[in-house]
Amino acid sequence: MKDAAATTSHDTVYLADYAPFGWTVEEVHLTFRLSPDATRVTSRIRFAPNPEGRQDRFFLHGEQLKLIEAKIDGAPVSPEVTPRGLTCDVPDAPFTWEAEVEIAPAQNFALEGLYMSNGMYCTQCEAEGFRKITYYPDRPDVMSTFTVRIEGDEKVKLANGNPVDSGAGFAEWHDPWPKPAYLFALVAGDLVNHPDSFTTRSGKQVELNIWVRPGDEDKCAFGMEALKKSMKWDEEVYGREYDLDIFNIVAVDDFNMGAMENKGLNIFNSSCVLASPETSTDANFERIEAIIAHEYFHNWTGNRITCRDWFQLCLKEGLTVFRDAQFTADMRSEPVKRIGDVIDLRARQFREDNGPLAHPVRPESFQEINNFYTATVYEKGAEVIGMLKRLVGDDEYYKALDLYFARHDGQACTIEDWLAVFEEATGRDLSQFKRWYSQAGTPRLHVTETWEDGTFTLHFRQETPATPGQPEKQPQVLPIEVGLIGPNGDEVVETTLLEMTEAEQSFAFTGLGARPVPSILRGFSAPVILQRETDNAERAFLMAHDTDPYNRWEAGRGLAKQALMRMIAGGAAPDEAYLGALHTLLSDETLDPAFRALAMALPSEDDLAQTLHESSMTPDPQRIWEKREEMRDAMARWMPDLLEKLFHAHQVPGTYQPDAGPAASRALANAALSLLTRLDGGEKARAQYASADNMTQQLAALSCLLSIDAAKGELAAFYDHWQADRLVIDKWFSLQVAYAKPAETAATAAALVEHPDFDMKNPNRFRAVFGALSMSPAGFHHASGAGYELLADWLLKLDPLNPQTTARMCAAFQTWRRFDADRQAMMKTQLERIGAQQDLSRDTSEMVSRILG
Ligand code: ARG
Ligand code: ZN
Repeated sequence: MKDAAATTSHDTVYLADYAPFGWTVEEVHLTFRLSPDATRVTSRIRFAPNPEGRQDRFFLHGEQLKLIEAKIDGAPVSPEVTPRGLTCDVPDAPFTWEAEVEIAPAQNFALEGLYMSNGMYCTQCEAEGFRKITYYPDRPDVMSTFTVRIEGDEKVKLANGNPVDSGAGFAEWHDPWPKPAYLFALVAGDLVNHPDSFTTRSGKQVELNIWVRPGDEDKCAFGMEALKKSMKWDEEVYGREYDLDIFNIVAVDDFNMGAMENKGLNIFNSSCVLASPETSTDANFERIEAIIAHEYFHNWTGNRITCRDWFQLCLKEGLTVFRDAQFTADMRSEPVKRIGDVIDLRARQFREDNGPLAHPVRPESFQEINNFYTATVYEKGAEVIGMLKRLVGDDEYYKALDLYFARHDGQACTIEDWLAVFEEATGRDLSQFKRWYSQAGTPRLHVTETWEDGTFTLHFRQETPATPGQPEKQPQVLPIEVGLIGPNGDEVVETTLLEMTEAEQSFAFTGLGARPVPSILRGFSAPVILQRETDNAERAFLMAHDTDPYNRWEAGRGLAKQALMRMIAGGAAPDEAYLGALHTLLSDETLDPAFRALAMALPSEDDLAQTLHESSMTPDPQRIWEKREEMRDAMARWMPDLLEKLFHAHQVPGTYQPDAGPAASRALANAALSLLTRLDGGEKARAQYASADNMTQQLAALSCLLSIDAAKGELAAFYDHWQADRLVIDKWFSLQVAYAKPAETAATAAALVEHPDFDMKNPNRFRAVFGALSMSPAGFHHASGAGYELLADWLLKLDPLNPQTTARMCAAFQTWRRFDADRQAMMKTQLERIGAQQDLSRDTSEMVSRILG
């Protein structure tokens, strides 16, 4: 029986209800007396009535705190305490609030607030974790300067801002920049640092440190270089300089997310900062560089200008993701970065936008804000910035950004503020564009063409399907970049930006000598699903002649997808037109190896399931898996000589370097290796495994062997060799699940959680197993239902400890309505079982009820 109360007892917060806090905070002084089970936090906070605020009764957030004493202007008071905070009578004038609370960081497995990880203290306060540290108006529009004193025996004691004093058993920090509590951070432990420095363009010296556990010192150099590159890039491209004397990064093993941009003290999941050639893959290096940049860029887009309330999360996240993507494109390859981002957007954001969890880039209500750190807020939020930049042009974009920084520095802002800046700087009316922030769902863009008397006309029609709570959609502004290619392969019309604003709209190109082939949505200029009748001849033509690398890749992907769809839906054989076109493209030595490696990758199982569902067919995950395997066998048999050639020609001699150039070569050689493994029984992979001197080559070889079920010896050797390295062992856990045959995926995961190194309290380890399970569609959706049941069992175990990670992983069930009746029933049963758990967290209960719809 479903316990309705469990899923409805939590309050919903609405954007429309926003009201400023009734008091301002002038300054905050905090003292921490650290102790694992009884840390004392004393606060001294200066409040003043806020003339713009709503004068409710004085309320401070506070959760899981033991209040020892409270005083107002030195006199003891007895506030009314509830599980969510306290209320108190206060003077009608400025006053000083003092409180002492006790908390137990060693018992904090939710990893929110102050907690311990491997003996070190650390904090995570975004979004609403500060209320687990002390009583406070824990909302982003309340900004103040913080002075922090940390008392304890730990060698290293860090907080935000600049160090002001330290001595035996204490350290003091002062952050001169007013900030909301979610940017507060504290770290204490016996850490070691990798030091460096950076001179800003105005000549200020900044001390830089990456702090890690002893033993990890040799994994900091790459992150430090990435930090310095980021600092320089933000000066050069956005004119933004760093604003404190010191910038610290700390690596922590137990962390719910990737990283956190706390002012002057960024805290990172160790998997997102520690890197070495022996232990990290090329993909790890690229991701680490991007995340370091992302958190650093938040210093201006997030910290100096923050969010008025959590509904505005995309204001800082969309913009910062956009900025880190620009950075990666500049450091590496722009087209390769764009293609990778589109693959990721379709895999995660389109899935979200087309299911029960669909929500606008700026949501209008939530129960638990942690559930809205989503692909929609982050990645679609970044796409919206990208569209804005295309529409106004680069010069106007940077002009608007300058105005944004000048006008709003030090403020907590809204999407309205952001758009007003663009309207003013560019003279554009953005009222229709604003729908990108309020309408959920992925627009479908239908295109037809006509040709008459030298005029080629594109007829567009847009429609966005209904999403939860939004049955009707209005037309959105779509920037559509188009180029035209003549029959001989020459471009006859260069990339042109069409601005679509109506539900239906046509654009004509006149004076053409022959009917051209259109290249539509170049660079994926808008996050839409393009629907256009085309054929393989035209796709192969674009694959050969398009001047836009993104669309060239997209043409190849279209061919692959078409071929797979015919295999899945109609039992066709692998399409020789696709294999031939792929052979031609892979043979083109003028093309970036990274681009060719991407072209070799087939559309994912989930992408195919999504496409089948879109075409009103019921996806069978097992069949999709089998047909992809069949296609990969066919690819291997079609071009063995070319694969051999690519494999050998793209070996990288010499010392490992993580740069884009050699990484691209390795990606192509390893893509070839994975196909060759199907022909040679793993001979080359085994040799590569034996001789590899870096993790990229070692892991690629191990994956190849796992894919043909021939990795027993290597798997054991890998474990023995890397046993002491927790980040590498995460890879060992996840690969086994990822490469298990679908019928064995759940059993493999179930066996791995019995391994002594499995630790459910560590989110990286939990995700290594259960993230891999939920991202193996054929295994997770196996007809036995074992995958569903196992995941639900473990989510139920994790929820009481770590609601945030549990809720996030519930999203594995979000596609349940795509599947056949049996699978739907099994998934529904598991979702209801989770929903019925006594004392289910607010996080998980909101996710389950949204998914069930
Ligand atoms: N602001 C962080 C970032 O994007 C992420 C923090 C996520 N916190 C959370 N509670 N979900 O860099
Ligand atoms: Zn961010």
